Amino acid sequence: MYNLKDLKSYTKSYKKSVENPEAFWDAIAKANFVWKRPWSRVLEWDFSLPKISWFEGAQLNITENCIDRHLEQNGNKTAILFEPNNPNESSEAITYTDLHKRVNQFANVLKSKGIQKGDRVCVYLPMIPELAIAVLACARIGAIHSVVFAGFSANALASRINDCDCKLLITSDGGYRGAKTIDLKSIVDTALLDCAGIEAVLVAKRIHTDISMVSGRDFWLQPLLESASAICEATVMDAEDPLFILYTSGSTGQPKGMVHTTAGYMVYSAYTFKNIFQYEPEDIYWCTADIGWITGHSYIVYGPLLNGATTLMFEGVPSYPDYGRFWSIVEKHKVSQFYTAPTAIRALAKQGLDLVSPYDLSSLKVLGTVGEPINEEAWHWYNDHIGKRKCPIVDTWWQTETGGIMISPIPKSFDGKPTFATLPFVGIQPALMDEKGEEIEGNSVEGRLCIKFPWPSMARTIWGNHQRYKETYFSAYDQSYFTGDGALRDENGHYRITGRVDDVIIVSGHNLGTAPIEDAINEHPKVAESAIVGYPHDIKGSALYGYITLKNSDDTNAAALKVEINQLISKHIGPIAKLDKIQFTSGLPKTRSGKIMRRILRKIASKDTSNLGDISTLLNPEVVETIMKNSL
Ligand code: WTA
Repeated sequence: MYNLKDLKSYTKSYKKSVENPEAFWDAIAKANFVWKRPWSRVLEWDFSLPKISWFEGAQLNITENCIDRHLEQNGNKTAILFEPNNPNESSEAITYTDLHKRVNQFANVLKSKGIQKGDRVCVYLPMIPELAIAVLACARIGAIHSVVFAGFSANALASRINDCDCKLLITSDGGYRGAKTIDLKSIVDTALLDCAGIEAVLVAKRIHTDISMVSGRDFWLQPLLESASAICEATVMDAEDPLFILYTSGSTGQPKGMVHTTAGYMVYSAYTFKNIFQYEPEDIYWCTADIGWITGHSYIVYGPLLNGATTLMFEGVPSYPDYGRFWSIVEKHKVSQFYTAPTAIRALAKQGLDLVSPYDLSSLKVLGTVGEPINEEAWHWYNDHIGKRKCPIVDTWWQTETGGIMISPIPKSFDGKPTFATLPFVGIQPALMDEKGEEIEGNSVEGRLCIKFPWPSMARTIWGNHQRYKETYFSAYDQSYFTGDGALRDENGHYRITGRVDDVIIVSGHNLGTAPIEDAINEHPKVAESAIVGYPHDIKGSALYGYITLKNSDDTNAAALKVEINQLISKHIGPIAKLDKIQFTSGLPKTRSGKIMRRILRKIASKDTSNLGDISTLLNPEVVETIMKNSL
């Protein structure tokens, strides 16, 4: 599966992938996977509907590709290397043979609870092996997994469960995160008060505390696994059968359940993993993301296991027991590839080198970053102090919607350049668009980033709302997928992602839509109106600034109100969406049609008020002056 070995092979493959995409992906799919039936057609597509179908007619099961086919040669190889939160607890090496057994048992437990192909199963677990195993167990029997990040609140969990009608929920008695324990089960119990569709809850034991179990609904997982058969035949899936749903924030409305299907996602996640991380069989690969996000789906679980890799899963946080933890893990397990987010790099860089230098990082070969633009300073710190200027840095740009990495350097083929995601991966055809919707040709240009041609792992729809899928991604530009990001292309044709051009704000690498946060704030009885914008933050990349108008502007207890507002946000979304700054204002700047001018608020929050543009056309230009005067 490893073909991009140098610039020549990249250039040749890229050319082929664009000139004849069908032949290109046909060859990769044939050579590297096991199929139960071949496809009749590689690709069928029409972005105006939109309809995208890859490998139509083929049948397969992705878990046979992730696990079964490695057993004969590599049964004793470690598939998942689990590093617990507490460094004094032993790590656990789960071999491919163990993984096979545990996934099969788990799949049989799901079946015994009535789960069938096509049913939706919600997974709400901390980063423990059961999370990866649950995901694979769903895939084994064709159930569609919907993993919800365990930092989300009860309300956020309930709305995701209900949106796709999950029948079963998998959770645990709790989880460890640094010095804290998280009481997951009580969050689940609150969420389920609003989820009539959940028939059963499977509960893994992790923190061994007393929790309440609802009789007839909640079941301890362990005894069920122990009595389950270790053989579960893999369900035959069609290429375009859904594999999973994963929610991501939109600029408006509720989160979107992105639907990924089986064959295309498999081919692309596997092929990108191998080539972008230059994975070799003896390597130990570590991605620090949570499986609750797309990065964890594609590059902790599926991509690595499809390649028969050893993938490290870390339960804890970079700061526990101290900020040297990541580097101690790299040394302990001799990690070869290390993939993390710019926000983590910035937080670690701030701690100084005392926490880096004690550790032997010589096993590292490739470093990666994902989730937001990486600033130049963080890039150099990563390169100098972690990679010791010997490890290529792959700055990988992609999205929940794209399923796999889209723009990234490829080690050995071409070098990275600070702040640049550089060149499109093979098969990816980016385009920059201008305000009028025309493509901007040539180099040294900037515009809105679109992709002009389908790739195998693109999301096929939004669960239950194909119209929204069409409107969000395929309506802004003719026959193009619109990413929501801005980008520039330099004189060498290399891409630099400049950030979101919509109302999505990326805080510590997490996508947050402004609308649901504003909805949560507006629930406060004293709030009349609110607007959220992002502003630059040293560690988080962006942080949240809330402008809030109260119904009674004389309300004096501002400190208490701020606490209550953040509590509401935690309740509705989760602590990740809490506001860093709250400014109470007498009004918000609005256009004559009543639309809040976020552009102005963004500039004020970013302390960039030298050029606010023309504000004379606003309904209430005077308010801008007041907001500026009182800004935080
Ligand atoms: C941003 C994460 C700059 C971008 C895989 C995108 C990046 C959003 C990069 C998707 C990068 C991701 N450089 N920006 N290397 N990677 N982004 O869905 O704005 O959580 O649209 O997927 O993160 O975030 P998501």
